[in-house]
Amino acid sequence: MKKILITRKLIKDSEDKAQKIFEVKLNSNDELYSQAKLIELTQGCDGILTSLTEKMDADAINKLPKSIKIISNFAVGFGNIDLEAAKKRGIAVTNTPEVLSDATAEIGILLILGACRRASEGIDAARLSNWKWSADYLIGKQLTRSRLGILGMGRIGQKIAKIAKSLGMIIHYHNRSKLSADKEQGAIYHDSLKSLFSVSDVLSICCPATKETVNLINKQTIEYFPTGAVITNVARGDIVDDEALIDALNRRKIYAAGLDVYKNEPNLNPGYLKIKSAFILPHLGSATKDTRIAMANLAIDNIDEFFNTGNCKNIVN
Ligand code: DGY
Repeated sequence: MKKILITRKLIKDSEDKAQKIFEVKLNSNDELYSQAKLIELTQGCDGILTSLTEKMDADAINKLPKSIKIISNFAVGFGNIDLEAAKKRGIAVTNTPEVLSDATAEIGILLILGACRRASEGIDAARLSNWKWSADYLIGKQLTRSRLGILGMGRIGQKIAKIAKSLGMIIHYHNRSKLSADKEQGAIYHDSLKSLFSVSDVLSICCPATKETVNLINKQTIEYFPTGAVITNVARGDIVDDEALIDALNRRKIYAAGLDVYKNEPNLNPGYLKIKSAFILPHLGSATKDTRIAMANLAIDNIDEFFNTGNCKNIVN
């Protein structure tokens, strides 16, 4: 029986499933392991089921025992793992695509609604009972007839586009390449960031974090947007230069921001705390029971498939 380390506590059904297939080291207290502890715990293991909270950089990967053949990440994103370093060590890295697209797209829509309709300010006022209705109280931005720019029209981007279209938004997108008509569903393709941003009343960031997309929203690219645009991010914090966004929010170049992810999670850049129009969530994209079970099951199946066949359809390196 192969032996695996599961670095974070999973929902019980998923841990039970893993225990039927493998000899498993669980993390019952859901402790956040230091790199040193994680490496120590992998001794004698054949694989690791990691979460986005484990930073598997080249240093950590090079210290793993030779017996480790797979790192199965419990996420669709894999920015926490140095893919090249893993490849050099002959370690396969897998992710959990598709199963979280619906839940993450729902949060993507919540960010758009929350930022455009001033949900943070509204919630604060309601809790304090210190508000008075008036014709111009907490006026926000209407989604119907606004232009939504989608940066990264993969599965999550396409689902957000579908829901946003039903809300009356006009969809534009930028991708490395233009999609087929059935995937585009009438969305308008832009071959450059500048072209997309210049027509985005609202932006939804849905692309992966890669070397190319780090700080893609920055001092220069923010100027491409119409004044008063809204920027939302359901992908990864690394894509946004927070200082540049905070500055743009302060000078009202950008009207509001909706973020489910941000750099250096869970430590939010304090600059956001003073901005009332920032609608910020603690990385809830995939946080529904059905989705977390489906993700964990897929992460477990990825390891099983890999050890049974020597390959796996969800290898990303
Ligand atoms: C993912 O899978 O990348 C999500 O961000 C995890 O919640």
